[in-house]
Amino acid sequence: MSTKMGRKINEGSSAEVFEWENDEKIIKLAKNKKRHQSMLTEYLNSQVAWDNGVSVPQPFGLVDVDGRPGIIFERIYGETLMERFVNQKGFNYEDVARITAKILSETHGKKIPNIRSQREAIIYSINGANYLTNSEKKLVVDILNNIPIKEQLCHGDPNLNNILIRDNKALLIDWRHASIGNPETDLAEYILMTRYAIVPMVRQAILPRHIPSEIEYYINSIKEEIIKVFIDEYTKLSDITSEDIDSWIIPMAARRLSVGIIPKSEKEQLVGEIRRRLKIYK
Ligand SMILES: Nc1ncnc2c1ncn2[C@@H]1O[C@H](COP(=O)(O)OP(=O)(O)O)[C@@H](O)[C@H]1O
Ligand SMILES: [Mg+2]
Repeated sequence: MSTKMGRKINEGSSAEVFEWENDEKIIKLAKNKKRHQSMLTEYLNSQVAWDNGVSVPQPFGLVDVDGRPGIIFERIYGETLMERFVNQKGFNYEDVARITAKILSETHGKKIPNIRSQREAIIYSINGANYLTNSEKKLVVDILNNIPIKEQLCHGDPNLNNILIRDNKALLIDWRHASIGNPETDLAEYILMTRYAIVPMVRQAILPRHIPSEIEYYINSIKEEIIKVFIDEYTKLSDITSEDIDSWIIPMAARRLSVGIIPKSEKEQLVGEIRRRLKIYK
């Protein structure tokens, strides 16, 4: 164990976060020792985002602690948007949706090189998932290929645990899935996450406390409203329309089918949404 490492602050699905050296830095340490490549990618993406004025914690470097790859970042004193949402029992959902729309629209305003382009990776994921038939996959890829390519900075995983709030200003963390491409990918991802994954994410956030069923019921009842506020706010801040966003729901839902940590029950719901939407194309 490194002497520079302090108390554990938090963790996500892929990493643990500890104090580092002093009270101004943290280390994000991969849970899996084999994650050197993805930590390097995250570090380089974060550096490019920082260099281009995106609202992110400053990255300081890559290190190795007991064989685990880690990244040193500026420590952000604040809360995640998920913590804010949970602490206020979901009652500030409009605020949460607007903050997310704003930080994403600012990020998408950047056109920067040196980050991988996204289209091929999405097609690769769609073709790699098991839940759709080959002809359905082909249809989804055709739909995707009919959408003109854009070249904007996309985050790739805009969930509420990846947005930190400090002094009412949002910062985006966790840049491992960043790419250059169509910003609607982030928007569709946020919409699908809200529609199908928000309750399990809230449950995870308040562990080991038990999520009361009335809160679960309440969150389910406001999900579509969160999505509506998010789309309204984002379309106000950009020249993207709600139809532009909607055309990305099929491909991004199909892409989510290849994500390992998404449970089978959610994937079945995603397949349901894809098939309902594909009907008009057949
Ligand atoms: N720079 C930072 N300052 C303070 N807390 C952070 C910082 N980076 C991450 N965290 C905390 O650690 C959690 C997990 O970090 P994240 O980078 O999202 O890891 P994962 O890749 O596992 O999702 C975040 O939700 C946040 O609470
Ligand atoms: Mg994360």
